[in-house]
Amino acid sequence: MAVERTLSIIKPDATARNLTGKINAYLEDADLRFVAQKRVRLTREQAETFYGVHKERSFFNELVEYMTSGPVVVQVLEGENAVAKNREVMGATNPANADEGTIRKDFALNVQENSVHGSDSAENAAIEIAYFFAGTEIVG
Ligand code: TYD
Repeated sequence: MAVERTLSIIKPDATARNLTGKINAYLEDADLRFVAQKRVRLTREQAETFYGVHKERSFFNELVEYMTSGPVVVQVLEGENAVAKNREVMGATNPANADEGTIRKDFALNVQENSVHGSDSAENAAIEIAYFFAGTEIVG
């Protein structure tokens, strides 16, 4: 299996509840390594661009409001099969449908305030990582 990198975001509902360390432990327990990490407040423009694929969806404006409502922690995770592994440990988008032991099952509040983001493909991971990090900020 190939070593991959993926982009993870700890969202405002989780930073507000001081859950960064607890969520990071779930990721490390899944053999994902942090090769970059920073805490930032997204601008409206950054959030709109990042979630641009959802521009036409009914929840888009609310999603942008929420993602800019407080600090987030953006992270690059590295590991074997990192994209799929991170999606697995995150759990389903709606925490009501998330499996036991996943981050969203254990911490998410609802489908919007769902605590974490993770890239959904290796191709998107490369785009999302480059959106937030310079190559020199990533140390494997
Ligand atoms: P999506 O890419 O479908 O899910 P995931 O984060 O699991 O890859 O949706 C992106 C985000 O949009 C999701 O994490 C939360 C938000 N969202 C809503 O607020 N309401 C919704 O009904 C959906 C489907 C998503």
